[in-house]
Amino acid sequence: MSLLVIDNLCAAYDGSEVLHHISFDVAQGDFVAVIGANTAGKSTLLRAISGLVPRTSGRIALEGENLLALPAHQIPFRGISHVPEGRHVFPAMSVEDNLWLGGYHRRHDKADLQRTLEAVFMQFPRLAERRRQLAGTLSGGEQQMVAIGRALMGKPRLLLLDEPSHGLAPKIVQELHDALVTIHRSGVTTLLVEQNTQLALSVAQRAFVLQNGEMVLSGRSEELLNDARIREAYLGI
Ligand SMILES: Nc1ncnc2c1ncn2[C@@H]1O[C@H](COP(=O)(O)OP(=O)(O)O)[C@@H](O)[C@H]1O
Ligand SMILES: [Mg+2]
Repeated sequence: MSLLVIDNLCAAYDGSEVLHHISFDVAQGDFVAVIGANTAGKSTLLRAISGLVPRTSGRIALEGENLLALPAHQIPFRGISHVPEGRHVFPAMSVEDNLWLGGYHRRHDKADLQRTLEAVFMQFPRLAERRRQLAGTLSGGEQQMVAIGRALMGKPRLLLLDEPSHGLAPKIVQELHDALVTIHRSGVTTLLVEQNTQLALSVAQRAFVLQNGEMVLSGRSEELLNDARIREAYLGI
């Protein structure tokens, strides 16, 4: 059974529809990317899954449970962690306190949360070194690690990542690539949205192209990397 099923989903801001009849599935263990230009609707798609924008029709189900019936604050309890566009770390809090926030809904299981924190520090040793440092003093790449680490503290069944490479230098994008591969290999089902098509298609197994709020193309990453339309419109080659 698919972990996530999105069927005929429409979403709108103030009555103006920006996602039009989106349908796709994410299987347990998949790494799926959604690529598309600025304003294509990528962030809106992730926000729709997290219950942060009004869904006007269609269905979103996680392991058969209808997510449309849940308020946004219940979504993390269902095992969905969302790394928002722009990271949104708390600059005046330490790295470690930022990470603990991501486990808030699991706070009653302190021992397991502590194990997850150690796993996040293994994944991102630089955060371990800087655990007491204020998050606002970190570089952009390190703040992105905090944002991803915070999401992992929720022990997600499904990780939603919104443009994690945005604003990062090429060397840091390579580090991010490696981190995403390791996180996925550790068993986290991942849905990544990216404008960096090269990155997205190099980490994900499958991808969808979103254009003006519609899914216009889909396939395995290696097929899309060789697709003339993708190469011209999204890879510039
Ligand atoms: N809070 C909002 N209120 C109204 N319109 C919005 C809002 N956020 C995004 N939009 C519009 O929705 C469309 C999709 O935006 P978005 O999902 O942010 O695209 P992407 O993440 O692909 O750049 C755009 O036309 C954008 O202007
Ligand atoms: Mg966006």
